[in-house]
Amino acid sequence: MGFSPSSNRVHELAPEEMEIYRQLEPERLPQHVAIIMDGNGRWAGQRRLQRFFGHQQGAESVQYVVETASRIDLPWLTLYAFSLENNLRRPKMEVNFLMRLLKTYLVGNVRRMNDNNVRIAYIGRTAELPSEVQETMQWAVEQTAKNTGTTLTLALNYGARSEIVDAAQAAMRRILADPALRGARMEDLIPHLTEDALSKELYTAHMPDPDLVIRTSGEMRISNFLLWQIAYAEIFVTERFWPDFRGQHLLEAIADYQRRERRYGGLSQGKSPENSTRDEAFVPS
Ligand code: FPP
Repeated sequence: MGFSPSSNRVHELAPEEMEIYRQLEPERLPQHVAIIMDGNGRWAGQRRLQRFFGHQQGAESVQYVVETASRIDLPWLTLYAFSLENNLRRPKMEVNFLMRLLKTYLVGNVRRMNDNNVRIAYIGRTAELPSEVQETMQWAVEQTAKNTGTTLTLALNYGARSEIVDAAQAAMRRILADPALRGARMEDLIPHLTEDALSKELYTAHMPDPDLVIRTSGEMRISNFLLWQIAYAEIFVTERFWPDFRGQHLLEAIADYQRRERRYGGLSQGKSPENSTRDEAFVPS
């Protein structure tokens, strides 16, 4: 299938999705949505099934949501698929199952990714994943590299604190290797470690920060996900378990996002420090 940069595929939305999409302002869509996919185990437990079935059903949800994202031209979708903590703290059998599921998902869905103009990428300490999984991941990247629609980034063996530590060390190394700073005293190098220098070393350096973070299954936690990047993101928590999450729920979250006012630490529109009370002006936002 051929795509022009502005292929509009909104007409491919399902009727229940279209109903919500019609209420959105297309020019104010988020550029980057990040999702903490949670509740696979509880979904299975409610049905007296083993946790594995929840993960399997969760992989189906991934594909539904990716396709809806691509139809509305969402540029960046990042999914928390497997954390460093999952890798360390879950039973080996479950970790192995998740690895096999990831491989099966990629092999089974690359064609649909291409049909939907979706490009695959990853963030996290992926070099620590089993080598046959890494090979399939690399293959999927190559197969989808030419696509120009949604970039689907899977966070795998990902932890935000370790990402920030890695980035700080990389930024420090870059500063030490800068010929313009050769011979400078350590004291004079420290101010070069700026927000900008650190951001440039994050796994996400090439992406805008998420505008909207969605978490399924009702937990009010961030769980070490994109801590730096979500400084000003809107957070949407739904009680729905991930295996029940579909494109229409993504659109509902976006509708909620559009009802909010983003202030980035500033004041409401129409309010200037002169016509605010002192207290209002210093409320963190
Ligand atoms: C949280 O559910 C989910 C995970 C730990 C893994 C996410 C994996 C998938 C959605 C499926 C595979 C993904 C891809 C990209 C193919 P949980 O097990 O923590 O649920 P619980 O909190 O109810 O136990």
